[in-house]
Amino acid sequence: MTTLKAVRGTRDLLPPETALWNRIEATARSVFARYNFGEIRTPVFEDTSLFARGVGEETDIVSKEMYTWSDGERFNEKRIIDEWVKANQSDDPSRVQAGRVNVQGNPLFLARLNGLGVQLQVWRGVQVRPNFLSGHVEFVSFRPGVSADAIERLIQARELAKSDPESQTQQFPIRLRLVIPMSGELGSWIDMKDVILEPFAGRFFDSAQSLTLRPENTAGVVRAYIEHQLGESGQLQKLYYIGPQFRRERPQKGRYRQFSQIGAEVIGPPSAGSESPLRDAEVLEMLATLLDELGITGWTLHLNSVGSAADRARYNETLRAALVPLAPQMCADCQRRAVTNPLRVLDCKVLADQPIIDTLPVIADSLDESSRTHFAAVLAALDAAGVPYTRNNRLVRGLDYYTRTTFEFTHDGLGAQNALLGGGRYDGLSEAIGGPKAPGIGFAMGEDRLVLTLMAQELAPPQVADAYIAPLGENLNPAALSLARELRRAGLSVDLGDGSFRLKKSFDAANKAARNIVILGEDELQSGILTVKTFATGIQTKVIRAELACFLSTPATE
Ligand code: HAM
Repeated sequence: MTTLKAVRGTRDLLPPETALWNRIEATARSVFARYNFGEIRTPVFEDTSLFARGVGEETDIVSKEMYTWSDGERFNEKRIIDEWVKANQSDDPSRVQAGRVNVQGNPLFLARLNGLGVQLQVWRGVQVRPNFLSGHVEFVSFRPGVSADAIERLIQARELAKSDPESQTQQFPIRLRLVIPMSGELGSWIDMKDVILEPFAGRFFDSAQSLTLRPENTAGVVRAYIEHQLGESGQLQKLYYIGPQFRRERPQKGRYRQFSQIGAEVIGPPSAGSESPLRDAEVLEMLATLLDELGITGWTLHLNSVGSAADRARYNETLRAALVPLAPQMCADCQRRAVTNPLRVLDCKVLADQPIIDTLPVIADSLDESSRTHFAAVLAALDAAGVPYTRNNRLVRGLDYYTRTTFEFTHDGLGAQNALLGGGRYDGLSEAIGGPKAPGIGFAMGEDRLVLTLMAQELAPPQVADAYIAPLGENLNPAALSLARELRRAGLSVDLGDGSFRLKKSFDAANKAARNIVILGEDELQSGILTVKTFATGIQTKVIRAELACFLSTPATE
C-alpha cells in the first residue's frame, strides 16, 4: 500500500515549532487587545461569488488560485412542508372543513413519529355536529422521492399509533401519505402498499451552490459586517482574526496552499471616522509595535496610495499608452498585461523588465486632490509617531478592492517570498458586495512567514520541561503520577518516565526532555526527601518534597 502524505502545499506543524506559533498568536492577541480590537471568526468556506465580487474576477487569486467546488442540489424539506400545509390547511384552525386538514398531535407522540421520518399528523374530515367529527387521521411523510424505506416507516408509524398511549388516535382510522416533489425520483417498481402517493408541485430542490475555501479573509469579514448590520451601531468595528487561508499557488519556501494569516480590519460608516487618515496611520503604527514585540527586526514598510477607483482608471489608461512602444521589449506576461490590465505590469519580477518599468509614469501623478491630501495626512501622522517607511510607487497590490493607502512590510531574510504582510484601504468593498457605504482599512500577516523569520533569527526557544520524574520500579508508578500531578498543579511542566526503565535509560530520556531529573525510589517516597539532578550544572541535590516545586522553578546557576 502506498503511504499517505500531507497534500502538496500543506504541512503538519509539530512541536517545538508550534510553541513559536502559539507565542506569536499570544503576542498578537495581547497587542490587538491594547488597541481595543475584538476577535471575529468567519467560516473557512463561503459562496464563491463573495470572492468574485469582493477580491475581483480578474485577479490571480480569483481566476487561478481558488479551491472551488459545487455543493450538490438539496431537497428543501422545510419548504415543501410549509407549502403543503399552506395549500391544505383549513382556514379555521379550530374546525375541520371538508377536504382540508388541521395539523394536530400530541408533541410527545409527534416526536416519535418524527423518528420514523413522518413529519406531520393531520386531521382530514368533516365536522358533522359540534363535538362530532367524522373523518380520519393521516400520517404524512415528505421525501425527495419514493423509496421502499419511506413506505415501510409509514407503516411502522401506524403500528406504533395503535399501541402508543400518547397517540390519542386509537379510535380513528389512520391513512398514510407520502408527499414528494413533482420532479422527485420515482424509481422503478415499488409496492406502495396502501400508502397514498402525492406528487406536489413546486421548487423543492435548492440548486447547487458554488463554494470556495477562503483565499483571504477581508471579503468574509465585510460579508459578516453587512450580514450582522454591525454598521448600525454607528461605531467603528475593530476586528481581528487568526486562521487558515487557501490558495492554489506553486508551493515554495514561504508559500503554501494552506497558510495562516493574522489579520485585522477597521470598518464602519463614514460618520464613525472610518475614512480618516488617522485610521491608516494607527493601523500601521500598531503593526510596527506588533513586529517589534514579536522580536522581528529589520523590516521595511513600503507605502503607496492607489487613489480612488477613478484615479486608478485614469492611471491605467496613462500606463496603457506609455506601454504601447515598450511592451514588445518586455516578457510575454507583460505584453499581455499591457493590453488587459496595465497596472499588473508593476508586479512583474522579471529582472530584464525592471529598468523599463522604472521609466513608467507613477500613480502619484494620477491622484486627485482629495487622495493626495489623504495620503499626505497619513505620512504626517507616521512621521509624528516615528514609524519609518519607504514610499514605493510600484506597490499596487494584487487584490481589486484597494483604494488610497496600500502597504506591505517586507523582510530580507525571507528570500523570494519576502512580504511578511500586506494590506490597505478598501473604501468601496462593502458596496461591491451589496452592503452600505462602509470604508475600511486592514492587513493580513502571513503567520508562516513570521515563523520562518523568527526561526532564522534563532529566537525559537527549545521546548524543555522543568522536570522529568523517574520512578525506580514499576510499583512506584502510581506515586510518580501523584508527584507529577502535584508539580503540574503548581504550574511546572513535567514529563513522567516509567518504572520499567533502567536508571541509565531514564537519565538519557530526561536529558533530552527536561532541565532536571527527579528520582523517586522507595527511600525517597518514605523519607519525603527527593534526589534532583540539574543537567546544566551536573549538581545532585536533596530536596524536601514540600519545597520541590519551588526548587524546580528556579533557573539553575552555574
Ligand atoms: P495578501 O497580500 O494577499 O493580502 O496576503 C497577506 C499576506 O499573507 C502576505 O503578505 C503573505 O505574508 C501571506 N500569504 C499570502 N499568500 C500566501 C501563501 N500562499 N503562503 C504563505 N503566506 C501567504 C490579503 O490577504 C488581504 N486580505 C490583506 C488585507 C486585509 N487587506 C486589507 N485587509
